[in-house]
Amino acid sequence: MPDSPTSSTFFRDEHLEFDHLKGSNTMYDYTKSLERSKFSRERNSGDNEIVVGGDEWTLLEDVFSPADTRSTLAHIDLLDFTEGETFLEIGSGIGMIAVKAALGGCRSVVATDINPAAVANTERNVRRFGVADRVTTVHSDLFDGLSPDLRFDTIYWHSNNVWAPPTLALQSVHELAYVDPGYAAHRRFLREARNFVSDRGRVLLALSSRAGRRELEDLAAQEGAKFVDVRSKTVDEPEGAVSYDLIEVVTASN
Ligand SMILES: C[S@@+](CC[C@H](N)C(=O)[O-])C[C@H]1O[C@@H](n2cnc3c(N)ncnc32)[C@H](O)[C@@H]1O
Repeated sequence: MPDSPTSSTFFRDEHLEFDHLKGSNTMYDYTKSLERSKFSRERNSGDNEIVVGGDEWTLLEDVFSPADTRSTLAHIDLLDFTEGETFLEIGSGIGMIAVKAALGGCRSVVATDINPAAVANTERNVRRFGVADRVTTVHSDLFDGLSPDLRFDTIYWHSNNVWAPPTLALQSVHELAYVDPGYAAHRRFLREARNFVSDRGRVLLALSSRAGRRELEDLAAQEGAKFVDVRSKTVDEPEGAVSYDLIEVVTASN
C-alpha cells in the first residue's frame, strides 16, 4: 500500500496542483478511498455473482463492485434516458449502467473502461441481459480508443472522483475506480468530451461529496466549461451520509 500520510503531511505535498489547498484541510482523504478499494478487491477475489438492485450480475476479479457501495444504484436513480438516444459510458465497470441504458431505450450504447477486466465484465453482463445487439464495449483510456468521428447524445462518466497525489504509485488497476491521481483524467475528460458529443447532446459527470468539487470546477473553467447541478441524492454508506451528484458539463458561455 502507498504511504498513508497524516492530514498535515498530505496538505504539504510538494506536488499539490491546487495552491488554495495549502494550509486548508478540506480535501477528502484519498487514503480512505484506497482502503475501500483494497477491502472490496480482497473480498471479491476470483469471479463472483452479486445481487444488486434485485438482479444477479457477474463480477470479475479486479472490477469495481456495485455491491460494496450504494453509488452505482444511486447514480442510476439520478440518470434519465431518452428513447432512441446514443449513449457513451466511460468507465463501465461490470456494465450495470450500460445495460440499464440499453434497457431504458437507448438505441446504441458504447461502454468503455481503462481496466481490461471491466471490459470483459461488461461484455458478460451485456450478454446476460440480452442487450448485445445494441451495446459495444471498447477497452479505452477515456476517448483514446474511440474513432474520432463518433458523436453521442449523452456522454456519461461515474468517475473515480477522489483526488490523489499526482505521483501516487497505484497498487492495482482497481484503485483507478476510486481515485484519479492529480485529477489528470478529469482534466482530459473536461477537455475532450466536447469532441464526441452531438450538437444538442449532453456531457454528464456522476460525482460524490468525496470529490474535490472546487478543484474540478477550476479545471472545468480552465477548459472553458462549467458545472450545472442536475440532481443529487444522499445515501448512508458505512462511513456516514454521502451525497451522489449528477452534474452536466456545459460550455462556460451558456
Ligand atoms: C466509480 S467506477 C464506476 C463503475 C461503473 N460505471 C459503476 O457505476 O458501477 C469508475 C470506473 O471508471 C474506470 N476508469 C477510471 N479511469 C478511467 C479512464 N481514464 N478511462 C476509462 N475508464 C476509466 C474505472 O476502471 C472504473 O471502472
